[in-house]
Amino acid sequence: MENRKNKDKSTIAVHGLGRPKISVKPVNPPIIQSTNFYYDSTEQMKRFHTGDKSVFVYSRYDNPTILEVEGHIAGLENTDKALIFSSGLGAVSSTVFAFVKQGDEILAGDTLYGGTFDLLKEILPNLGVKVNFFDSRNFTEAESLVNKNTKLIFLESPTNPNLKLTDFEEAADFSNRHNLISVMDNTFATPMNQNPLDYGFNLVLHSGSKYFSGNSDVICGAVAGSDELIEKIWQYRKLFGTILDPSAGFLMLKGIKTLAVRVAKHNENGLKIAEFCESHPKIEKVHYPGLPSHPQHSLAKKQMRGFGGMVTIELKGGQETAERFMDNLELILNAVSLGGVESLATMPVLTTQYGYTEEELKKAEISPSMVRLSLGIEYSDDLIADIKQALDKI
Ligand SMILES: Cc1ncc(COP(=O)(O)O)c(C=O)c1O
Repeated sequence: MENRKNKDKSTIAVHGLGRPKISVKPVNPPIIQSTNFYYDSTEQMKRFHTGDKSVFVYSRYDNPTILEVEGHIAGLENTDKALIFSSGLGAVSSTVFAFVKQGDEILAGDTLYGGTFDLLKEILPNLGVKVNFFDSRNFTEAESLVNKNTKLIFLESPTNPNLKLTDFEEAADFSNRHNLISVMDNTFATPMNQNPLDYGFNLVLHSGSKYFSGNSDVICGAVAGSDELIEKIWQYRKLFGTILDPSAGFLMLKGIKTLAVRVAKHNENGLKIAEFCESHPKIEKVHYPGLPSHPQHSLAKKQMRGFGGMVTIELKGGQETAERFMDNLELILNAVSLGGVESLATMPVLTTQYGYTEEELKKAEISPSMVRLSLGIEYSDDLIADIKQALDKI
């Protein structure tokens, strides 16, 4: 280490006694909380301009902690590359803007997360991009809407909140025939339960704030796909400034490491609670792809390895009864979001789908008496007991 003891204290406060030459191999990847990176030579810096991804410049472009997380997501989604974002919506907006321009059209499922829906319905048309919504179970409807200007198709499966499925093979075939960039939001299922890219989708996208983080502690997002498409989205992430902060990336990675065990438990609780709810006389309907009564159960068995921790119920008696049920819950928290270790309940018409017109709700098949449950990793009998006591009191 260079001797800097003769330097002024103000210099030493900034530089210390020089950079220690250490080579460490921490088991837990470090948080590289640095805005920028320095070089031993200009030659090294210039390699960045040749596309050498081992040369870091500025953490809005890339960051080693974030790169580590990206490797995990790419691997989980069976592809080459992934990008991590400061939110799921950051991933959605950077991806969509990377592939459409004025005059283009988008096809989108009519049941989407509210924020994605608003982006597609409110923002893009103002920029000259037309968005056509269709029932993502019905590609005959999609055929009637696609045209030479359509560039991208955006879908969720299972959908939020009513757990409708898209047939991946059918969707990928449709997208390939029409030369569309196909994007699947895989937040609800996670890559533990399904991998849309295996069926021919181009890009898979996540709100990492949900199952990836798993602890309701970080807002983050991800997109995964081929080198070529990811490179294009990377330009938008860089210029939109939507990369995740390294400290939050560290938390995200911590969550991802336990994804497999958590999702196994979410799947188990999802199925048990769905079965209990289906047998209860005060519940009108249960939406869960793992139940034989789900209209697309055979498709679920074909393309999903597990059915997830999201269960949506419709109570007999309308919105007021559903509100009373929510207020009676003791263990399950009344909160938005999903995918954390703690079980949550929320009413879509008051939260994620708030502001939908009656017609939009009808088209998306969302009812005012719906309660969406995000089952955590607690003991299933305790969750059932809480739901039972809440139903007994209405
Ligand atoms: C399916 C789905 N996609 C995208 C998002 C947006 O993610 P974020 O809140 O991390 O921006 C959400 C958030 O609830 C979601 O549920």
